[in-house]
Amino acid sequence: MKTILSPSQRMLILITSVFISICLISFNSHPFLSCQKINNVTTKDSIVPWSFPDISSIPNNEEGDLIRQGRLIFIHTYNYIGPDVKIESKRFAGTNMDCSNCHFKGGTIKNVLGLVGVYNKYPQFDPRSNKEITIQQRINSCLMRSMNGKPMPENTEEMTALASYIKWLSTNVPKGTKVLDQGLPKISLIDRAADTAKGRFVFMRNCTTCHAENGTGVLNSTVLNPNQSDSAKGYNYPPVMGNTSYNNGAGMYRLIMSTAFIYTKMPYNDAILSLEDAYDVAAYINSRPRSEFAGVSKDYPDLKSKPIDYPFGPYADNFTEEQHKYGPYLPMLKEGEKSKMFKPE
Ligand code: HEC
Ligand code: HEC
Repeated sequence: MKTILSPSQRMLILITSVFISICLISFNSHPFLSCQKINNVTTKDSIVPWSFPDISSIPNNEEGDLIRQGRLIFIHTYNYIGPDVKIESKRFAGTNMDCSNCHFKGGTIKNVLGLVGVYNKYPQFDPRSNKEITIQQRINSCLMRSMNGKPMPENTEEMTALASYIKWLSTNVPKGTKVLDQGLPKISLIDRAADTAKGRFVFMRNCTTCHAENGTGVLNSTVLNPNQSDSAKGYNYPPVMGNTSYNNGAGMYRLIMSTAFIYTKMPYNDAILSLEDAYDVAAYINSRPRSEFAGVSKDYPDLKSKPIDYPFGPYADNFTEEQHKYGPYLPMLKEGEKSKMFKPE
């Protein structure tokens, strides 16, 4: 029997087959056409999705042991290099916080300072010190500032282990590519200075159930890592104020950085703050006393690269330290930059 198709049926078949071909080509499963070559080229700006291997895939060899060790140091830092460990020469961190308090779940969570894809970027130019730094120097800078401690020599087992773990997090990331959702998300600037008095109110309402009324956090009631001979306790809820928290040279001390962190992730598992409340509470916690990092005014010696929210002069502009610390930031930007969202780095 001869089937005769109407013009509209023929059109439908044509459109459908073109559509199917496009789908096949884009998934590289077309019998003779493919865009595989294009997919395989990873240029410097290629962006790849967030992906890291399963912990169970860490090999059972010497390298694997180092990676596992590094992961333990990352999530129970206080037990290995904290201020209360038995061997005095291993006391590098100045607080019983751990790296995961800011780089959640071993640095595996996106949009909250996750460390997938970070290893491949180093050595890289660091504007804060105005020179090229290695991953070990970057780890030390979090130890000295975010953990208010002192640098750990590169040849220590603990440093080698941490670097191996951070390298392993990037196993699925081809060199030369960027990972989507790394660091903190962009946030908008608000058109007023952050208000520490309002921020105190937000803190009392939204933060004290965990971080305590004076912001000094709550230690674990039991030792979480019984395998370790040192019995230092980490925090169930880490300190956000006072001399057991990060010091004033830390990234978290900068208003846009801490606002982006708080706005996307705090209160923990229930980030419900408005952007303005997030600015105000970030300003409040950073207005409270904490340890001081020696040499903050020597950071960013090339003043043109100093971030807008770096709260210590000198500056390349005429705005005060106060305005760099709390805003308003919009008047500090050039025309054309003002409508942009800000990604803290
Ligand atoms: C339900 C408990 C809870 C509440 C409420 C909460 N946090 Fe947190 N916060 C945490 C936990 C837990 C961590 C550490 C996460 C980890 O280790 O995985 C943390 C980490 C932080 C950190 C980074 C680590 C540090 O100590 O500096 C900051 C800053 C912070 N919170 C600020 C806030 C602010 C501001 C609020 C109120 C808007 C808030 N948090 C409300 C549980 C909470
Ligand atoms: C109080 C929060 C906090 C703690 C605790 C912390 N960090 Fe960080 N870390 C940050 C912030 C914020 C940044 C990014 C901004 C900056 O300071 O330049 C960062 C950046 C990094 C980077 C570079 C990321 C990149 O994209 O280049 C590495 C690596 C790192 N941290 C490792 C660690 C390790 C290892 C520890 C534990 C020894 C640690 N951090 C503890 C807040 C913290």
